[in-house]
Amino acid sequence: MSRDLMHSDEVKALVRAAYRHVPPTTAAVAHKIYSSDELAMLPDSAVNRALGVANHLRYADIRPGETILDLGCGGGIDTILAAQRTGPTGKVIALDFLPEMLDRTADAVREAGLTNVELVEGEMEAIPCPDASVDLIISNGVINLSARKARVMAECARVLRPGGRLCVSDLTVDQDHLPPEIATQPAAWAGCVAGALAEDGFLHKLERAGFEDAEVVERAPFSIDDCALYPLFSDEVIRLMRALIPVDRHARVAVTVVVKAHLRDVGEIRSESGAVRSEAAASTCQSGVTRNVRRLQDIAPGPADIPGVEVRHLTQVEDPQLKIIDVQPGNSTPFHTHPHAHEAVIISGVGTLQLQEREEALTPGDVLFVNPDEPHAIISRGSEALRFVCLDCYVG
Ligand SMILES: C[S@@+](CC[C@H](N)C(=O)[O-])C[C@H]1O[C@@H](n2cnc3c(N)ncnc32)[C@H](O)[C@@H]1O
Repeated sequence: MSRDLMHSDEVKALVRAAYRHVPPTTAAVAHKIYSSDELAMLPDSAVNRALGVANHLRYADIRPGETILDLGCGGGIDTILAAQRTGPTGKVIALDFLPEMLDRTADAVREAGLTNVELVEGEMEAIPCPDASVDLIISNGVINLSARKARVMAECARVLRPGGRLCVSDLTVDQDHLPPEIATQPAAWAGCVAGALAEDGFLHKLERAGFEDAEVVERAPFSIDDCALYPLFSDEVIRLMRALIPVDRHARVAVTVVVKAHLRDVGEIRSESGAVRSEAAASTCQSGVTRNVRRLQDIAPGPADIPGVEVRHLTQVEDPQLKIIDVQPGNSTPFHTHPHAHEAVIISGVGTLQLQEREEALTPGDVLFVNPDEPHAIISRGSEALRFVCLDCYVG
């Protein structure tokens, strides 16, 4: 089983289970990452629960008064350092999906004597904060834990103000170097290794989400001994790593990176009502809000009726002709016709519209149009499924 085949719900459940009861035994992690001056500013409760992988705060250029979002705050170590730097005129929104972690951050924040931290329960894949409401996003060893990293980055782009910054620490891995026996271990995912991206994949996803100038400003090797500092890795997984990874790679099973980027400033974005996006974001983040955006499979279940082609009827939409179709890479719909004019909007992937005597390229945002009774097929040619919303057609 590769990481791509794991369902995101399973990943989320295993990460929750792993972090819910993680013991406060990781002071060694804090001493590895933070300077003695930084450690002196922190309560022991936060130091003992450090679970990050690097020190991005050194590069974050935090200014007084800024609103900072800490994705996956854990025991609160970076939240506290960031809150001290932004000062009483700014604030840190500490986001975590585990109430247990938020309780730990709350205790540490109280011990640090801070009043500018807002605790928010929620998922980084659906950040419960308004659009364009944050100046800086920080995160330490968290993005790799998501099975939906592109979605996390899109959410980061949504909640940042135009021109806002992202400065995060994470692990990167060459997945080809990870033996499958390790890549498939839940403990290796929870330990930030099995779910990690390659460095260029991380930067590429950020750029696709609307960030620019994404760069790695610090890199350091992450060894098996480093893994053993985190209680997420069981002794069994550490033993497997030592046995299965070639000895010359034991000192570098992954690489910690500090990544910086800023959100492209597209100027004022006006909604249909004419309101400026940042004005619409006047309210604050809310724990446990119900989101308006959901996963496709939750609202549009549907079995494939053609190999390589998946048709999803939108069960909550009355028009039975409105459906979403995924054509898997290298597959095609049959050559077919409709008795009516047919229109579809390409959402993702790349491919071609094959007509009788010519073909036309399809990329996201294209709207294809086919005349009544005109034979055509839709072919997926990229590395991901070609997904389109079919406004009035059937397949097969
Ligand atoms: C590796 S720990 C890092 C904690 C903290 N950033 C630090 O440096 O010590 C990961 C944290 O992210 C949280 N987390 C994992 N997946 C999450 C998600 N999808 N949404 C929100 N929080 C998540 C976990 O509960 C945990 O507290």
